[in-house]
Amino acid sequence: MEKHTNSFVPEAILDEIIEKHKGKPGMLLTTLEEVQEKNPLKYLPGETLTKISQKMNVPYTQVYGVATFYSFFNLKPQGKHSIVVCRGTACHTKGSKGLLDEISTVFGIKSGDIDSEQSVTTPDNEFTIKTVACFGQCAQSPVVAVDNIIYSNVNSQKLLKILSKVRTEKNAPKTKITL
Ligand code: FES
Repeated sequence: MEKHTNSFVPEAILDEIIEKHKGKPGMLLTTLEEVQEKNPLKYLPGETLTKISQKMNVPYTQVYGVATFYSFFNLKPQGKHSIVVCRGTACHTKGSKGLLDEISTVFGIKSGDIDSEQSVTTPDNEFTIKTVACFGQCAQSPVVAVDNIIYSNVNSQKLLKILSKVRTEKNAPKTKITL
């Protein structure tokens, strides 16, 4: 996939966030969460992690460790919409690889890119496609989440319906999809 434009949280806002959480339990985690939320591309660039480390006086390795430990932190720019395919054993057995391949075809992503890079964002920053190890809903496998809404027992037909709806609405305000 192509490179995406970097986006940074302005220094003044960074200072404000750090000050707000200073001295509180879990301050590094909450600071990182809020900084990511304020980034228009919903991620934590390396430069931002460095600044947080310096400003909070916390070793960079610790900041980086937290940012990479939790799956809700992103180190790469994220699209406006997220599509997450479960690749756990139960979902794999019920055909999640096929769903991932269909998604790759719909968005013109090379087969294997998502698995090898863990997440891929379309060049227009509209969609990020990623995989997870398990949603904890194995009884309803295969499971796919789109914009944080979990869909269970997904088959090819249901997937295409979800994708077509989300693509149609990509320029419209976000609304919950009902199937
Ligand atoms: S393996 Fe997919 S929800 Fe558990």
